[in-house]
Amino acid sequence: MKVLSVVGARPQFIKLAPICAAMASAEVGHVIVHTGQHYDDRMSDVIFADLGIPAPDYNLGVGSATHGRQTGGMLAALDGVLEESRPDWVVVYGDTNSTIAGALAATKMHIAVAHVEAGLRSFNRAMPEEINRVMTDHASDLCLAPTAVAMDHLSNEGLGERSLLIGDVMTDVCLGTRDLVAGKPLSFTPDGPFVMATLHRAENTDGDEHLRSLLTSISQLSTRVVLAVHPRLAAAADRIGFDLTTGAIEPVEPLSYPEMVAAVSAASAVITDSGGLQKEAFLLRTPAITLRTETEWPETLSGGWNVLDPTGRHISELLARTLSVPVDEAPYGDGQAAARCVRALQKF
Ligand code: UD1
Repeated sequence: MKVLSVVGARPQFIKLAPICAAMASAEVGHVIVHTGQHYDDRMSDVIFADLGIPAPDYNLGVGSATHGRQTGGMLAALDGVLEESRPDWVVVYGDTNSTIAGALAATKMHIAVAHVEAGLRSFNRAMPEEINRVMTDHASDLCLAPTAVAMDHLSNEGLGERSLLIGDVMTDVCLGTRDLVAGKPLSFTPDGPFVMATLHRAENTDGDEHLRSLLTSISQLSTRVVLAVHPRLAAAADRIGFDLTTGAIEPVEPLSYPEMVAAVSAASAVITDSGGLQKEAFLLRTPAITLRTETEWPETLSGGWNVLDPTGRHISELLARTLSVPVDEAPYGDGQAAARCVRALQKF
């Protein structure tokens, strides 16, 4: 069996890591295609190196562009790669433009497609990721779901028969990395308690007044806030003339994955709009505040571990909230999702 994985953006490299390891253990031929959606070292190469992912076999070098141009560039380039490698399966991950491009290119060439992290829904059609998720699930031959809730969404859309619950591959990496970094010092000097923050989603960065108001709320907190700055946020802050060293904010470069796991474990709380980070906070038992109107990971809301605050106006009071033990302590599986994914590809 030959499997070809298509990845392009930071969270996908993290999802790819345990799949690569599971493919290698099962001695499955595995070709890696990097679309080039993320190209900065800290957004790409560093993650491959830190997580022991082999260098990609192909890099399509699409870079940044509007959604149509970026996705179209990937589609055009993938045809040649798929003609050359002729895999039995194409595996796509998550919800980025690289995900939909991989699924569409493969299915048009009658190559079987498996979607890792299928069935997540925010039900917010204004998010580019939501469109990518829905389209990818419907183009896929095998929908590999991380949670029971995701399985329900797939069934409700008539995709139940081609769906399988495998657990969450990011949980595989997160728990493994937590054990590796335990007791190691942080890459930035902790000066007492700190909150770890990220902010990068288009819904939060594209509107000037909304972004200014979120950053202002964060800057006025009484606890130090270490903000890992995604390139999209850096550009947006420049655009609105907001200095990212204002008040409580301490900007740092995007962290490597192990650094982020260590930082989230050590932080008193997490403020984020990232899907992955709110779930990592839950797994590492750090309270999170998510700056969004909805979450694809509703399990994190259990016990108050994650709370949605789309305007950022309640962050200060939310930091002081009390928490209880989550109802289901392990809704994201047992850390063996990647092995289940490979077995599913072999079986179907
Ligand atoms: C993409 C995903 C999002 C995911 C995020 C993780 C889509 C639609 N969105 O959003 O779901 O949460 O990745 O980071 O695919 N840039 C750089 N260097 C890079 C990458 C990006 O400077 O290496 C800048 C460019 O100015 C670019 C902007 O960031 O225009 C946005 O990058 P893009 O890949 O289009 O979307 P993300 O916001 O990263």
